[in-house]
Amino acid sequence: MDYVAERINCIEASGIRRVWQMAQQMKDPVDFSIGEPDFNTPEPVKAAAIEAIRDNRNTYTLTTGLPELRQALGREIEQSYGWSEPAVLITCGLSGALTLGLMATVNPGDGVLIPDPYFVSYPHLTRLQGGRCQFVDTYPDFELPAEKLQASITKVSKLLMLNSPANPTGIVYSPAALQELAAVAKKHNLLVFSDEIYRQFSYDEPATSIGHYYENTVLMRAFSKCYGVPGWRLGYAAAPAHLAGLLDAMATFQQYTFVCAPHPFQAAALKALRCDISAKVAAYRHKRDLLYEGLKDRYELVRPAGAFYAFVKAPGGSARTFVEKAINKEVVVIPGSVFSERDSHFRISYATGDEKIREGVERLCKLV
Ligand SMILES: Cc1ncc(COP(=O)(O)O)c(C=O)c1O
Repeated sequence: MDYVAERINCIEASGIRRVWQMAQQMKDPVDFSIGEPDFNTPEPVKAAAIEAIRDNRNTYTLTTGLPELRQALGREIEQSYGWSEPAVLITCGLSGALTLGLMATVNPGDGVLIPDPYFVSYPHLTRLQGGRCQFVDTYPDFELPAEKLQASITKVSKLLMLNSPANPTGIVYSPAALQELAAVAKKHNLLVFSDEIYRQFSYDEPATSIGHYYENTVLMRAFSKCYGVPGWRLGYAAAPAHLAGLLDAMATFQQYTFVCAPHPFQAAALKALRCDISAKVAAYRHKRDLLYEGLKDRYELVRPAGAFYAFVKAPGGSARTFVEKAINKEVVVIPGSVFSERDSHFRISYATGDEKIREGVERLCKLV
């Protein structure tokens, strides 16, 4: 008897982990595969977590999170967006916010508009809820013009997933583009989930949120990337007061699943919020330049404006074939089919040391 539930068929094992495991066998790999920062969290933030554990803050918190953390985040959002008394729910990473958000909104058959390329979890989590993925193809420049979104909307469309700065493309939507998207969303009364996990990592202009232009938006954010703590599993969802019922539904699901985000790390997050990470962002701007300048004459790629990624066209057409060639030269990259309905590009994560980036660029340039 097979004990595994049929819903496993909604999901493919992460192609990223598979490639990463191959990299573990290599002698001298340049690992461009995993999207986590190569810096660690500032010492005062570590100290705050250790102190919280010593102070026995190891209990559950309220399902919705520590009130003082929710208030601090709420105040910041109120100032930035003019949303009076926003609803805030502390979650287990941005993945927690996404999972609860989709559980709370998607009925079987509901359409979820997903710009393609997309963050790897979106289609899987949508299908788990019985939702229908409505992919919006954004090749070749990965921008999302309002007309493309408009053309993908049908009667079942309910939710729009936005991610800017984006994984895997490094695209950052301009304020003008977001305003136009907001107008389309408003016309069709869509709910928007705005995944802003890389919001500080925007290298040319500060990243803007669609929340400035559209009130039916749930902001989804996390401490994972910006503060170098992906293993702490800490994120949050925030929305204007009129969507409080939706965040309450998410909290109800949290009560029976994650229960709460880790208590000592919620306490330390208050410290993280006061840290200046501009030097880290400047270092990543430099990494972006190293990578882009190194590849642009040999490869077809859009200049990434944010996050830690470049999404590069695979010479020869098939990304899977190209990725095998790259792995033979000990450069670990991820085939685009992990993030897309197409298999024409590959993803580079440049969240690694500058020397490794130079070495990786050299090896990739020798492949073409
Ligand atoms: C765009 C995007 N959203 C969500 C996540 C998940 O973040 P977390 O580790 O906070 O769950 C990631 C992680 O790579 C991501 O790139």
